Amino acid sequence: MNIFLTGSTGFLGGKLIKNLLQNERNEVYILVRNVEKAERLRDSFQLEEQGRIHIFQGDITIPDAGLSKDDVEWLTGKIDAVYHLAALVKFDLDLRDELFAANYNGTMHILELAAHLQVKKFYYVSTAYTVGKLSVGVEELYPPEGEFNNPYEESKVKSEHLVFSYRDKMDVSIFRPAIIVGDSKTGEADSQFTLYGFMRALGVFKRKTARRQGEERNYRLVAAKNGTSNLVPVDYVADILSLAPDKAHPDKIYHITNPNPPENIELLKVIKEALQFEHLEVVETTGEYELDEEEIMLNGLIDVFKVYLAGALTFEDRNTQELIGGTEVAHLELRDETIDMIIQAGCDSNGGKIII
Ligand SMILES: NC(=O)c1ccc[n+]([C@@H]2O[C@H](COP(=O)([O-])OP(=O)(O)OC[C@H]3O[C@@H](n4cnc5c(N)ncnc54)[C@H](OP(=O)(O)O)[C@@H]3O)[C@@H](O)[C@H]2O)c1
Repeated sequence: MNIFLTGSTGFLGGKLIKNLLQNERNEVYILVRNVEKAERLRDSFQLEEQGRIHIFQGDITIPDAGLSKDDVEWLTGKIDAVYHLAALVKFDLDLRDELFAANYNGTMHILELAAHLQVKKFYYVSTAYTVGKLSVGVEELYPPEGEFNNPYEESKVKSEHLVFSYRDKMDVSIFRPAIIVGDSKTGEADSQFTLYGFMRALGVFKRKTARRQGEERNYRLVAAKNGTSNLVPVDYVADILSLAPDKAHPDKIYHITNPNPPENIELLKVIKEALQFEHLEVVETTGEYELDEEEIMLNGLIDVFKVYLAGALTFEDRNTQELIGGTEVAHLELRDETIDMIIQAGCDSNGGKIII
């Protein structure tokens, strides 16, 4: 197949492209902002695979993703499937304009481009957190005017509606991963965002306070202890996405989620140990206490991530179970040891980005 991808220089994209190239008949056409970064990615593959990676410079915030007329003409009629992964993955409330430019307008431009290129199949990578403030995630579209925790979620819900509005032009399917973490076998993760942003912020706070030698006090982090943290290893997500051309049904939505997620208190314990942050204490969201200035700073640093520690969400994934049925991809069973290993690897080797 000839497969066009956006977001291939990102955390998930790097893994997906590796999977897709394992099929020797696949050629991948990647739309990237930064050609040098893409060339470094291409150089990381074997020579034969490198020859099947075609780099196109562009930007999804621009119509036609900034491709030249010649490029568009050359690609027309050639592409069998598009994977649209590129997005701004940030939860800050004040980034609304940037989030909508990248996630909503970006998706609109890629859909328009795909229709122009006469693409047959379109796979959109959304997020399980389109569920917003609801407590049960279903594999259906949510109302575009629902209640969201941040503009990231809203931009993704509205983009899903856009994607489905193209269903008369091509086959469209939507994939919704939960919080993507490192590889289930190696722990490797090329990400600074979501869980890794959270751990990094805790690491920075720990380092700041550790300068004060001999101080014996705890710092309280407010979280719903029995809420759940829905983590999914990046290889599980990429494996499911790779099945799409053969197995995905048009107009279907697939949750890539953990059916048995750990409780926040368990995950925070693992993170605390991995960061060697003995003075971190978790207190319940509903408790009565007054945080001091430093604790307010700590909780402020991780404020944007806290909606994901707030409740016990569940996600249906019946469509995904059907999709992986009869394939080599097993339904996710994320064991405690695997989570420990992924978190530890994230702290040890995230390119030195998580500073202990
Ligand atoms: N990470 C998670 O926990 C998670 C969870 C659920 C869903 N998702 C979804 O999964 C997808 C991939 O996420 P990720 O974690 O791999 O994100 P990531 O590491 O931040 O990568 C984002 C990718 O999008 C590209 N991109 C951003 N803006 C662009 C633009 N204007 N034009 C062209 N390319 C642009 C980036 O290019 P550069 O390399 O140039 O920056 C990068 O390749 C996203 O759609 C995200 O919403 C992620």
